[in-house]
Amino acid sequence: MSVVEATARSLALLVARKVARNRQIAEVLFDRCQTSSDLVRSGLNHLAYLLRLPKIPFLTSVMLETTNHCNLRCRFCPSARMSRPRGFMDPGLAERVLRDCGRLQYVYLYDWGEPLLHPELPSIIRIASRLGHRTFMVTNGTLLTPSLSDALIRAGLSTICFSIDGLDETYTYLRGFDYGVLEQKVLEFLRARKRLNPNLRVEINYVVSPDTERQVERFTSIWGARVDHITFQPMLTYSRVRRFRHCRELWKGSLVVLWDGAVVACCVDYDGILKVGDATKESITSILNSRPMVRLRSDHARKRFCSLCTYCSEFETEFVDGRFDGRMQAD
Ligand SMILES: C[S@@+](CC[C@H](N)C(=O)[O-])C[C@H]1O[C@@H](n2cnc3c(N)ncnc32)[C@H](O)[C@@H]1O
Ligand code: SF4
Repeated sequence: MSVVEATARSLALLVARKVARNRQIAEVLFDRCQTSSDLVRSGLNHLAYLLRLPKIPFLTSVMLETTNHCNLRCRFCPSARMSRPRGFMDPGLAERVLRDCGRLQYVYLYDWGEPLLHPELPSIIRIASRLGHRTFMVTNGTLLTPSLSDALIRAGLSTICFSIDGLDETYTYLRGFDYGVLEQKVLEFLRARKRLNPNLRVEINYVVSPDTERQVERFTSIWGARVDHITFQPMLTYSRVRRFRHCRELWKGSLVVLWDGAVVACCVDYDGILKVGDATKESITSILNSRPMVRLRSDHARKRFCSLCTYCSEFETEFVDGRFDGRMQAD
């Protein structure tokens, strides 16, 4: 990156921080925007949020729940409480959704569940790549093998993000999987990346909770130099504080397609309560401003929240900003 580009990027990031009023959101938003047109689209959606408009101009990303099956039962994750049926997304459905999307910042290949369990995951990545989409997968990484890593990289995956919350016994206690084994799998993936596609981004998502907040600094000093980015994400709590503000998430331009085609407004909705459309029958772009979606934004704008939104909250910690900054504070 030239000095001019680096300076322009730093200036733009400064503006993004001011606009988003949150370092965490600004950095993620900025990182996900690849071009100036991406930034303009996100900026216009953000303007609609500030003005509390019920419709937004752009679909910016789609989350495909490749599966809601999982091989772990992490202590902080609501996945085990899920009451909806479990299954795997049909690659044909993924293709129909992605054909309809236009320009996206990213296609996310997970929601609640472990995407590496999907037997046709490389095919789904290949479909997305052929359609010109950048792909982003969050994974617990525990099922990685050298051949699966090769298949994911060769299929054209753009970013892989490993979920690692804490070091050593902390991680092992929370995830029920040995930290040392996971560390070796990630280091092996990094070697495969270097060999097959050095442009593939490798990130880490670290859930900050009472169990992990004290390890944030030591974790950064160990993993910071190994990967391209670490996101410290406060744990969702679903119950602590009442909401006072409309939620930014509904204006971000992102929709979640569950494995069976049901579309929900937000990844926090792990049980699919707030259905806003059906991707097996409707186009994803029409769902962005569908009647249920518009009603949901209008309700938020008038501070009328359903129980999921009312009690959607995050662990408050001095170590990181909340992902949904300001959502619990009064105006
Ligand atoms: C639900 S998981 C699905 C992908 C995969 N199974 C994994 O663990 O990476 C997606 C992300 O949500 C995070 N997560 C799980 N429970 C959470 C919670 N209560 N609060 C915040 N993030 C959570 C995980 O750590 C992971 O980074
Ligand atoms: S965090 Fe991921 S791996 Fe852990 S139980 Fe939830 S979905 Fe499964």
